[in-house]
Amino acid sequence: MAQPAPSPTANLAEKRRILQLETLYDLALALTAKAPEEEQIDELLQRVCSVVDPGAAVAVTRDAFGGPRAAASVGWADPVDGAALLADPLWQKLVTRGASLALRDGELAGRGFRQLLATPLAYRGVFLGYLAVLDKETRGSSERTFSEDDSRFLDSVAALAGVALDSARQVESLSRQRERLEEENKALRDRLGEDLIGKRFIAQSPQMQQILSLVERVAPRGVNILVRGESGTGKELIARLAHLLSGRRGTMVAVNCAAIPLALLESELFGIEGGVATGVRARAGKFELADTGTLFLDEIGDMEPSVQAKLLRALQEREVVRVGGARPIPVDVRVIAATHQELEELVERGRFREDLFYRLKGVDVLLPPLKDRRDDIPFLVRNFAEDFCRREGIEVPVFRTDATALLLTADYPGNVRELRNLIEGAISLSEGEVDAELLRGLLGKPDVKAERTDMVDLATVERRHIVRILEATAGNKSAAARILGLDRRTLLRKGF
Ligand SMILES: Nc1ncnc2c1ncn2[C@@H]1O[C@H](COP(=O)(O)OP(=O)(O)OP(=O)(O)O)[C@@H](O)[C@H]1O
Ligand SMILES: [Mg+2]
Repeated sequence: MAQPAPSPTANLAEKRRILQLETLYDLALALTAKAPEEEQIDELLQRVCSVVDPGAAVAVTRDAFGGPRAAASVGWADPVDGAALLADPLWQKLVTRGASLALRDGELAGRGFRQLLATPLAYRGVFLGYLAVLDKETRGSSERTFSEDDSRFLDSVAALAGVALDSARQVESLSRQRERLEEENKALRDRLGEDLIGKRFIAQSPQMQQILSLVERVAPRGVNILVRGESGTGKELIARLAHLLSGRRGTMVAVNCAAIPLALLESELFGIEGGVATGVRARAGKFELADTGTLFLDEIGDMEPSVQAKLLRALQEREVVRVGGARPIPVDVRVIAATHQELEELVERGRFREDLFYRLKGVDVLLPPLKDRRDDIPFLVRNFAEDFCRREGIEVPVFRTDATALLLTADYPGNVRELRNLIEGAISLSEGEVDAELLRGLLGKPDVKAERTDMVDLATVERRHIVRILEATAGNKSAAARILGLDRRTLLRKGF
C-alpha cells in the first residue's frame, strides 16, 4: 500500500524541527570552542535569529559583582548597553521566576516592542544573564507572533548556553589561578635563592652532583640527616637546602651546640618552665620553635653526654619536657645535624652516644674538601664574584689567566668559605683586574718550619695573621676584616 503524501504544513513543521535540532547541535559545538564570552554571546544570538526570526534580539551576561560582562544585539540601532539590560525590570522578573517569560507591548532598554520572549541563562542555580527576542519579523504585510515552538527552542538554547558559559568561566578562573600560583612559585624560588646566601647552590662536580641528588631525594622524607665535612665545606648550606626542599611548613631553627655553655644548652633546646629559679620566665626551646619544621644542630660533636641523652629521648619519643617541667610537649621536628668531627672516633672514645649517632645518621651526607672537587671552583668563583659585585654595585673585574690557574690549584684549608673570602678580598683590592700576584698576597704563604718551632699562643698567631692580611690589603681595614671574616668593628676592637 502506498504511503499517503505528507501535507505541506506537516512537511514544513518537520523541516523546522530539523533546523532547530541542527542549530542546537552546531551551537553546542560552537559555544564550547569559543572562549571569550562576547564571542559566545554573539554566536548564540546569530543562531537564535536564524531559527526564530525576530525583528531584534539581545543577550547579556553579568559578572560576579552583578555588573555587565558581555552584551550582544541583532537589529538594535546602537550598540546595546549591557548595564541598561541588567537594570531593566525584566532581569529581576526572570531571576524571580527562574524560567522564561513572554510579554506584550512594552519597552526594553529604550526599544519598544509588541511581543517579547525572554529566557534566563543559568547553570546550577546561578543566573548568568538572559536572552530576549523582540517582535517576530513581518513577512510581507502579515504580522506574525512567536509560537510555543519558538519559546521551547529558546529554552533549549538557553540551557545549552548556560553550561557552556559556566564551563568557560571555570576554565578562565582556573587559568587565572594557575597564573597566580606560577607567580607565587617564582617569588618563592627567588626567595629560596636569596636564602641560600649567594644566589645559588653550586654543585657542578660529579661528587657534589651525587650529593645534591641524594639531598633532593631524602629532603621530603622525615628521616634525620647527618652532614659531615671540614670547616667551610657548606654543611649549613646543605641543611638549609634540605629544609627548603622538604616542603615542611615550619621554619628551620639553628642551634650551635659548641657555642652555647652546657648549663644553657639544655634549656635552649628543650625550653624552661617559669619560676625554676628566681626571675626565670617560661620560655619555649628550639625544639618547640622548630615544630613542623627543621632543627639544625650544628657542631653536634661538641654536645655534652648529658644533653645527648635528653636529645635521644626527644627524638625517640617525639616530645620534649621543659627544664623544671613535667608535662611532655609533642613536637614534629626533622633534625639535621652537622659536624666537622670524626663521630665514629668520638663514639669509640665514649664521648658520643652510639645510639644517638645512629639515630642522627638516618642519611649520611659527607661533603668532600674543596681541593677534592676542583670542578666546582670556576663556578663558585663566578658565583661569588657576581654576587659580591651585585651587592657592592660594582662591575665584575676581569680574572687574568694566571689568577684563574692559581684559583684552580690552591689548597683551601678553609674550603668554600676561604674561596669566598679570597674572591671578595681580591675584588675589593682590584682595580678592574684580578691577577695571580694579588691572590698570592691574600692567600699568604705560611712558613711551615717557622710556625712549627714557633711555640706561641693563639692570640699571637691571630695578631700575626691579622698583620699579614693588613699588609696585603695595604692597610685597608674594611677589606682586611672582610677577608678575615670579621666585622670591621671587631677588628678595631682588637687594637688594629
Ligand atoms: N656549594 C656551594 N655553593 C655556593 N656557596 C657555597 C657552597 N658551599 C659553601 N658555600 C658558601 O661557603 C660558606 C661556608 O658554608 P657553610 O657555612 O655552609 O659551611 P660549614 O660547613 O657549615 O662551615 P663550618 O664548619 O665552618 O660551620 C658560606 O658562605 C656558603 O654560602
Ligand atoms: Mg657551619
